[in-house]
Amino acid sequence: MRVCWAVLISGRGSNLSALLDYPDEIPVSIVVSSKAGVDGLLKARRAGVPTLVLERKIDWPGLTALLRASGVTHICLAGFMRIVPAAFVAEWRGHIVNLHPSLLPKYPGLESIAVAHAAGDEIGVTVHEVDEGVDTGRVILQRRSLLSDEARAYPLALAEFMVHVTEQRLLTRVVRTLSSGFLGGPR
Ligand code: GRF
Repeated sequence: MRVCWAVLISGRGSNLSALLDYPDEIPVSIVVSSKAGVDGLLKARRAGVPTLVLERKIDWPGLTALLRASGVTHICLAGFMRIVPAAFVAEWRGHIVNLHPSLLPKYPGLESIAVAHAAGDEIGVTVHEVDEGVDTGRVILQRRSLLSDEARAYPLALAEFMVHVTEQRLLTRVVRTLSSGFLGGPR
């Protein structure tokens, strides 16, 4: 089965942009944004990838139908700021991944970098399968961006920058690997 991605975003799209740097290895059929006018949509359009904006109440079964019709086999949540309902997760189970800026299970939810930084704790990134919980699915890959000593020494803005660099590298690595059929391949 040829892997084909939908990338769901809500904002800047720096992680989307990193994925779009590998068009031969990471086929992206569509970018879906929960917000209109965000930079991520511009990045998709510049790369020639079709976009869809779903700002209000999302018709999740309708979205599944549209994605399937577009040949999508896998979904990547890259800064997507909406809760994905359980029925949608069940529909895509094992084929939907999320990027989270912490070393899960530490610091799930919002403001993870700021909370870890305020605690003087190590900071990193996780790519995980999506399940019905918030940032609870099986971890695929994690990487630390800062040791706790560094988190205490560096200002928050620098910590955030380092995490964002790690995010792009880690997400790209996981999505490329999944696209090539490794990590167990498409189920
Ligand atoms: C990333 O930090 C991601 O981990 C978080 O939202 C941010 C999205 O950034 N959930 P971008 O839109 O990919 O630039």
